[in-house]
Amino acid sequence: MDKPVVAAKQPIDADLVAGKEYWWCACGRSDSQPFCDGSHRGTGIEPLGFKAEKNGEAWLCRCKQTKTPPYCDGSHKQVED
Ligand code: FES
Repeated sequence: MDKPVVAAKQPIDADLVAGKEYWWCACGRSDSQPFCDGSHRGTGIEPLGFKAEKNGEAWLCRCKQTKTPPYCDGSHKQVED
């Protein structure tokens, strides 16, 4: 299995709709960050499906190192250049 790549070293503020299902990019290769665009094919990494619990903004991880995917947990501060 390949390793996730760092799409960005900070989260993105996504505007989510309650009850809607989203696919969070776990491999870091998607051009549609923070969501999956199918670029994980062949990496052995699968996107994470989740349903938004409420309407509004959520900080979604783009560094792909979070321990609480799809949400940012601050792990991006440890990502090296
Ligand atoms: S962007 Fe990945 S933990 Fe913050």
